[in-house]
Amino acid sequence: MVPEVPSASPSGADSLVRDRCATGIEGLDDILGGGIPKGNMILVSGSVGTGKTTLSLEFLVRGAERGERSLFLSVTEASKKLVQNLRTFEFFRPELVENGSLVFVDVPVVYERLGLDREEFTSEDTDLLVLTFRNLVQELGAKRVVLDSLTSVCYRIRREERIRDFMLKLSQELSELDCTTILVSEVGNPAGRLSLYGVEEAIVDGVILMGNTRRQGDIIRVLQIVKMRGTSHSRAQYVIELTPIGLLMAPHLKGSRPEGV
Ligand SMILES: Nc1ncnc2c1ncn2[C@@H]1O[C@H](COP(=O)(O)OP(=O)(O)O)[C@@H](O)[C@H]1O
Ligand SMILES: [Mg+2]
Repeated sequence: MVPEVPSASPSGADSLVRDRCATGIEGLDDILGGGIPKGNMILVSGSVGTGKTTLSLEFLVRGAERGERSLFLSVTEASKKLVQNLRTFEFFRPELVENGSLVFVDVPVVYERLGLDREEFTSEDTDLLVLTFRNLVQELGAKRVVLDSLTSVCYRIRREERIRDFMLKLSQELSELDCTTILVSEVGNPAGRLSLYGVEEAIVDGVILMGNTRRQGDIIRVLQIVKMRGTSHSRAQYVIELTPIGLLMAPHLKGSRPEGV
């Protein structure tokens, strides 16, 4: 019989602790116990202007700096413009793009090359898209991927069962490649919603909700971890600021009322 070894942690979960993909965003890594569990696919959800793209870009830049190749799949904004905006942040280093550590791909160009010109994708189209993203990640050896936004891809997939299928296959393929993925979810009406179709949050391993709240007449930005498989985490609401040096987190709010503005 194997003698029982006393555990160093009260939960005895030391041996089960998953490797982390540090976001590089200080406060966020603290509340995630070191970062996003490696290989997970998570949703960053919120209404317009809440900081989803900024958080995602910082996640990639911080990864590229550490030698993890990072890929931004841009659906809604031209990558040229994104890089221009990124230059206004102090944490950005243009050489990361120049030396190929941080790669931007315009998804509409991918659609065009693949001949995906139907308004509504068939299941063959979505399979082809998963395969293309997978091959891209494999060829680049990317360890971090952002799809901004999943919502825009879902507009073309439309049917719930196909969205599920697309997300499950993508998650499986990218996880096998040891890639940690952020899917951006744009929520038009923020009241209680995490995604447009309502199926997206069930499939992913984690959800970070970004939003606005009102405090003493000011609108302030907030962030909350709604779910994160593979780790214990705080569910408190944190105040964030988007600053030139990156996303800054403050202690959680007390006594404020989320209004979803
Ligand atoms: N260089 C910058 N320095 C500080 N804040 C910035 C900078 N660029 C953008 N922002 C802030 O980020 C906001 C947009 O955030 P963004 O990440 O694009 O939101 P979302 O993707 O959720 O729509 C802007 O409204 C602005 O307040
Ligand atoms: Mg955005």
